[in-house]
Amino acid sequence: MKRWATIAFVSAYVVVLAGSIVRMSGAGMGCPDWPRCFGLTIPPTSEDQIRWQHSTVYGQDRMLIERDTLWVAQRSHTSGTTFAADRISGLWAPNPTHNYAKFNATHTWIEFINRLSGAWAGIPATVLFIWSLFRAIRGRGDRRWKIAAWSTLAWVLLLVVAWLGKLVVEGHLIPGSITIHMLGALGILIALIFARQDISIALSGRPSQANFPSQVRLWLGLSTLLALFQLVMGTQVREGVDLLVQAGVARTDWLAELPSSWKLHRSFSWLLLVTNFAWIWPVWRGKPSGSFWHRGANAMSILLCAQIITGLLFVWFAVPAWSQPLHLVMAMGLVLLGFSLWRSGYLAR
Ligand code: HEM
Repeated sequence: MKRWATIAFVSAYVVVLAGSIVRMSGAGMGCPDWPRCFGLTIPPTSEDQIRWQHSTVYGQDRMLIERDTLWVAQRSHTSGTTFAADRISGLWAPNPTHNYAKFNATHTWIEFINRLSGAWAGIPATVLFIWSLFRAIRGRGDRRWKIAAWSTLAWVLLLVVAWLGKLVVEGHLIPGSITIHMLGALGILIALIFARQDISIALSGRPSQANFPSQVRLWLGLSTLLALFQLVMGTQVREGVDLLVQAGVARTDWLAELPSSWKLHRSFSWLLLVTNFAWIWPVWRGKPSGSFWHRGANAMSILLCAQIITGLLFVWFAVPAWSQPLHLVMAMGLVLLGFSLWRSGYLAR
């Protein structure tokens, strides 16, 4: 079961990375419908697949681009001699939710692979969920209800996040959807870490080497909450960037055009540095190298510095596209490491 929790965690993290690559490449609408893509199970690879052709079989909900409009097949049919005639006889209607009528095969496939990674992540999460519930109901093993509760939370959040993704693709405007999505993904990952920690304890007992110095508990807890706040602030900055992209503003002008509140996000990093230093320094001084806390402190300091460096790269090199997924994935890593270390210490008491 521990292995399934690990696979579920890694798979969910890959989905976050894939989602960020989708955004960086602007491939988000590469598939205009959900869960299929242009009404196909395997997405189109060439333009002629999304253009109308005569004497061709089209299934219901198949999508085509004609005359700068996205059309949806109203029922399964074999096409006649002209698109206009088929349209007049009601076989095609404009897509009711949005009119994103562009085709770019690379975008379509990036988005499709993102969806595949999401669907794949559902498999280990579902195995973990069913297995942990089964184990709990059968009354087997230590901490069984805790493991079942975290696994269920991860699974339910996965469904909610996938459903939200569907609503967004269908063109529903959900205020703050990016932030909700991000927090949902974070919630899944935290629940999986906690489930894995409980499984570890059930298998091999409490991690006594992770016992907490009280000063560490306070500063680590505070830093983790501040990192979570910083992550939400970053997401707001990103929503601002998305608006600039929609308005056609060039990448080189993004930072100049953003509302100046983005500088709060930048400067908040100082606070994170100070609060993290307040627990890392005593650990470095007091704990032998190679110990649980020493390794945790090293990992946190490397991650924090790398995170701030990717932020600085945005400023120095006009937000290079490749650093955007890094900035996001490491921000998640920071918060997750904080929660994971804090709970390890808590469980070891
Ligand atoms: C510990 C420190 C930091 C954390 C946890 C953090 C976190 C985040 C997060 C989660 C996002 C949203 C990313 C996305 O949705 O793709 C973001 C965006 C952003 N952050 Fe940070 N950040 C940190 C430090 C910095 C620093 C030091 C700077 C600048 C000097 C910076 C500049 C930006 C910018 C410009 C964006 C928008 C980029 C985009 O739209 O892809 N960040 N940050």
